Amino acid sequence: MIPRPRKIEVHGGECFLPQMLRYQCNGLSQKDVSHYCDYLLNWLRGEYEDSDYHAPPGELGLSLNICPTGLAHREAYVIDIMEDGISLRATWMEGFRHGFQSLMQLLYKAVRHHGGMLPCQRIEDWPAYEWRGLHLDCSRHFFGVDDVLKYLEWMEALKLNRFHWHLTDDQGWRIECPSFPLLTEKGAWRTNPDSSSYGGFYSRDDIARVVSYGLEMGIEVIPEIDLPGHAMAILSAYPELACIPKEFEPLSVWGISEDILCAGKDATLEFLKALLSEMAELFPGPFIHIGGDEAPKQRWKACPACQKRIKDQGLKDEEELQSWLIKELQKHLKTLGKTVIGWDEILDGDPGPDPIVSVWRGDGLDAARKAAQNGNPYLLCPNQFLYFDWKAAEDGPGAFGVTSLEKVMSLNPEDYRFSESSKLLGGQANVWTERMPDFETVQKMLFPRVYALAEIFWSGRAHPDLKERIAQLEAYL
Ligand code: ACM
Ligand code: ZN
Repeated sequence: MIPRPRKIEVHGGECFLPQMLRYQCNGLSQKDVSHYCDYLLNWLRGEYEDSDYHAPPGELGLSLNICPTGLAHREAYVIDIMEDGISLRATWMEGFRHGFQSLMQLLYKAVRHHGGMLPCQRIEDWPAYEWRGLHLDCSRHFFGVDDVLKYLEWMEALKLNRFHWHLTDDQGWRIECPSFPLLTEKGAWRTNPDSSSYGGFYSRDDIARVVSYGLEMGIEVIPEIDLPGHAMAILSAYPELACIPKEFEPLSVWGISEDILCAGKDATLEFLKALLSEMAELFPGPFIHIGGDEAPKQRWKACPACQKRIKDQGLKDEEELQSWLIKELQKHLKTLGKTVIGWDEILDGDPGPDPIVSVWRGDGLDAARKAAQNGNPYLLCPNQFLYFDWKAAEDGPGAFGVTSLEKVMSLNPEDYRFSESSKLLGGQANVWTERMPDFETVQKMLFPRVYALAEIFWSGRAHPDLKERIAQLEAYL
């Protein structure tokens, strides 16, 4: 199984999968009973047809229960495989969902690799880290809603529970916003060097579908509104928010733009607060990521409004101006019940202890240490380990360095905990899509590395037999 469960106790004896499973459910809503049982029975029928396993006639009991298990963790579950039946128990739906995924993998392995045999055993399982995330950049390339839903299904199967949706960047704005229609009219479309147009955006209904699909699976959908840098799509729609307004276009090349949102103008602050209010409503979860990465300060240095803000607020320099901006937005989002997340550059000024820091630069040790000292909660996505746009092999496709499966597996989150009080939440992999023009390429870059990601943050570490278990799951997802 991937991720590997915390405790497996093998009893001796075995159970064979017969033609029929007879289910019995307790404590589940009627909707969940049909959802999970119909899904499993249909899926198993398909497996029987697609594999060379000939299930013997007969029935086996499958009991699915929401009931006290004695395990205190909300995401915990217990599976018992007995000679005369299979049971899954969890105290909370969070745990039940994970147990269901484990059960599916157990059945898959039995049918595909063990002639329908399941060794009798008890599994008790819960995660090492609460934050087990996966990011997808839908700005550099745009992926349709069905692709995004597929992505969530992969996450669910691997017990990943935080979807970081990178929806805005220099190359495209991807969210329908009734208050600011130009964001999609202008900001969602870029002109390629050959003059063709590229782009797209998600309607509010599309986004509601993704959010509710995530909720059903226990996955929080976290939008990223990247600012004050990576904002050329915003500036193409509302150029007056730049330090020096001119005609801007969403970029059709990759890199870092010197034009960023002006932090000196009150209009920028008003715009961002109104925009974030709209986002807070569209995305009902507790988190909003507001970027903060790669914002060069040349424009702010030359901008009278930015310099006046620095002076009026008694700030030291442009880095502190960025912290001031982030803090203003954070205060605003707090009134809307949201926790702010930012890339680790937010630590270059003093962001206060509230925002969650996404540790991404290099091996991440410096930023993680700083976040821990500052008292911020933080999560790990250091590019040297967890950027899946990087190459999976020296001679493979991708950018920058190599984050091979072995390299990902070598990440030990405990190396990033510096004291008892360090608030290490977990981590995520980032999938930047400059070089992934279609969803098929995304899938190729994601697998098999995503297995290691899932195992590290569920099980605490990638276990050395992970590659063998990956081989057993081939064709499962
Ligand atoms: C980042 O990779 N710019 C967060
Ligand atoms: Zn300015």
